[in-house]
Amino acid sequence: MDKLVSLCKRRGFIFQSSEVYGGLNSCYDYGPMGVELKNNIKSCWWRAMTYHHDNIEGVDASILMHPRVWEASGHVAGFTDPLVDCKACKARFRADHVATSQCPRKPSKAPGEHHECKLTEPRLFNLMFKTFMGPVEDQAAVVFLRPETAQGIFVNFLNVVNSSRQKLPFGIAQIGKAFRNEVTPGNFIFRTREFEQMEMQFFVRPGEDEEWFEKWRAERLAWHQEIGIRPEKLRWHPHGPSELAHYAKAAFDVEYEFPFGWQEIEGIHNRTDFDLARHQEYSGKRLSYFDEARKEHYVPYVIETSVGCDRVLLTTLVDAYHEEQAGEEVRVVLRLSPKIAPIKAAILPLVKKDGLPEIAAGITKDLMRDHRVFYDDVASVGKRYRRQDEVGTPYCITVDSQTLVDQTVTVRERDTMAQERIAATALREYLAARVRFD
Ligand code: GAP
Repeated sequence: MDKLVSLCKRRGFIFQSSEVYGGLNSCYDYGPMGVELKNNIKSCWWRAMTYHHDNIEGVDASILMHPRVWEASGHVAGFTDPLVDCKACKARFRADHVATSQCPRKPSKAPGEHHECKLTEPRLFNLMFKTFMGPVEDQAAVVFLRPETAQGIFVNFLNVVNSSRQKLPFGIAQIGKAFRNEVTPGNFIFRTREFEQMEMQFFVRPGEDEEWFEKWRAERLAWHQEIGIRPEKLRWHPHGPSELAHYAKAAFDVEYEFPFGWQEIEGIHNRTDFDLARHQEYSGKRLSYFDEARKEHYVPYVIETSVGCDRVLLTTLVDAYHEEQAGEEVRVVLRLSPKIAPIKAAILPLVKKDGLPEIAAGITKDLMRDHRVFYDDVASVGKRYRRQDEVGTPYCITVDSQTLVDQTVTVRERDTMAQERIAATALREYLAARVRFD
């Protein structure tokens, strides 16, 4: 992980938030490469969920919601972690993580095992961030930063039904920020207090939920493979009764094998009619669906797919990072899928003379209308290849003296380093066919 974290900073993927002030714990900023990678991941998810399903609509709900939403959803009462404090060293731990944590005074021991440790009894700590709406900071003005994007979908269920005229089964998708005051954030961007979720709630007739649960499980696992994650690094983790969230009848996590162990990257949940029924109860508004074909009203069941964008991004980086011997050197290469790579192609004039830079600049200008591409004429071509390998650029296009003769260029493929000559005029089509998310 240390090498990856250092590459992320060096190459402009991820920086510590507010670094000039010493940083803010567990908060990160995405740099020029990181923001492209993140946007590409979001776009692949959005296309897969909405463009590829004519029965899924999108929304973008606000982060601040009516405080009653969080009472109805169960987050005010139940979105808690058990916390223990050490009165000797003032450190805090999640009670259920104590056995795998380190005592700050004696890292070879777990908290509580050192003779100076004084652990308190566990107490429940609500993970929602609070703030105040308006100028008066009293209880009546308390609002929460949403801990999941899902509730913005539930409260808009009827708005979407009425405005889109979708019929069950149908889904609503959303990408947006969520906030959790995690007791123990960590592992770089794996668990942070501010993160982005990509969630989809699929509304179905009660009784059809289990079938849809299985369909979405299969589809979501396939998506992770489509964006390039190695299948052998993915597995399912079914939730046992003690792990199930308060709203779920069944849940499976997609897990990835990180250097710090197998960890959840996405959750698929059968949320039953829990959320809509609770919002109906707390708001006093009817949130049932009228099934015209069956001539009956019912509160739909919901299959949820919920994935963290930042966690997927970390997964893609961990999965793509490779070091390999190339001649005398060790080549660091990010084998990112071309669909999500931040830069799709680098355009390199072999030398800075004979009109080659001008031709390369022309090609760059042409390609940049469709793709994020990069012109580079600094240093030897070998060094320029290495720079692009480190940020995962799948294609390097070199303009050389042969280009002057027959208007062809070489295209070097990142992973195999194989080169082929193609006509400069064919480049747009060549790239489009290889980087598109179908
Ligand atoms: N709406 C259901 C829900 O939020 P969750 O399992 O709590 O379910 C879903 O979260 C996904 O959100 C997780 O699989 C993970 O990818 C991401 N996630 C949750 N907490 C996170 C955190 N503190 N930092 C980064 N990502 C997080």
